[in-house]
Amino acid sequence: MEIKRIAINTGGGDAPGLNAVIRAAVLTAINRGWECYGIRDGYSGLFLPEEYPDGGVVPLTRKTVRGITHLGGTILGTTNRGNPLKYATPDEQGTLVERDYSDKVLQGFRAHGLDALIAVGGDGSLSIASAFHRKGLRVVGVPKTIDNDLEETVITFGFDTAVSFATECLDRLRSTAEAHRRIMVVEVMGRYAGWIALNAGISGTADVILIPEIPYDIARVAETIREVAKRGRHFAIVVVAEGARPRGGTVSVIEREAGRAERLGGIGERMAGQLQELTGKESRAVVLGHLLRGGTPTTFDRLISLRFGAAAVRALAEGHSGVMVALDPPTVRYVPLEQATRRLKVVPPDCDSILTARDLGICFGD
Ligand code: F6P
Repeated sequence: MEIKRIAINTGGGDAPGLNAVIRAAVLTAINRGWECYGIRDGYSGLFLPEEYPDGGVVPLTRKTVRGITHLGGTILGTTNRGNPLKYATPDEQGTLVERDYSDKVLQGFRAHGLDALIAVGGDGSLSIASAFHRKGLRVVGVPKTIDNDLEETVITFGFDTAVSFATECLDRLRSTAEAHRRIMVVEVMGRYAGWIALNAGISGTADVILIPEIPYDIARVAETIREVAKRGRHFAIVVVAEGARPRGGTVSVIEREAGRAERLGGIGERMAGQLQELTGKESRAVVLGHLLRGGTPTTFDRLISLRFGAAAVRALAEGHSGVMVALDPPTVRYVPLEQATRRLKVVPPDCDSILTARDLGICFGD
């Protein structure tokens, strides 16, 4: 069936570059004579229409997407509580239970005359997109996440901006750490993958990098800091991924809630206390958190976002469905959504970046 009208949605945590993807997809579609619509807040605009008095599905025109390439966030809104396959709804007792609203989403698609969907998201949102593809929807995915934890693409958009900002923060923290002879523990996002911590930690010359893929021993971290001090450097920078865990221990969870992924965090503050006790050095914790998700995308992220958005429309025009656009330099190719969402892409403990860090004397707490 010929495509005349497509929808775009953005789901999960926002990432710099989302608006660039939207702009590229909309212009590429309009230039083919297609109409474009945006679904508000993931799929919510379709299956919770009562929450959107001004419309849960909104037209996207040349004018709507003018001047948004450099803007962080997403003009469509997003949510990580909006999984229509497992939407947390209160039962008669007020307890949250997960319900499947996928039929309502599919009805919404038909009611709006939408022929296909471009789903921009991370592993959670793209798994939902893959499920809708299996239910008969024509779908192409675009890999978004600052965590860079999606398989089958060399990189996701948003990651470069997050790493660049984290590196800049490490540079800034270095001077204050040195001035006060302190240990600065810097907690960064990344969920169950250590890509942000690893890349920013190496670039920002950290002494210690702790990532989920390599469980750490706090005594080993303290020993490294003492060794550094013996060499005459009386401050230290420790980068810790929010998903890092001690050997034989568990990840630090802030909260668990029905219908959404667990919220990680808190490890930085705890570690600063432990290191202060073990080394006798004053320690401070800084949580970069959502600062990593905000702001203007880097040139690299803008460019891959624009390339991904345009490629997603080309994929639909070429008759593809159930695929994700993926960076495979020098090109963008299409890979099955199912393959891209099968498992998380985590840091291989023997990869070149880890070897480089070890060669530079960076400690992983192992
Ligand atoms: O997946 C992106 C991400 O920023 C993770 O790095 C982090 O664990 C999570 O989202 C935070 O989600 P929220 O915005 O719900 O706190």
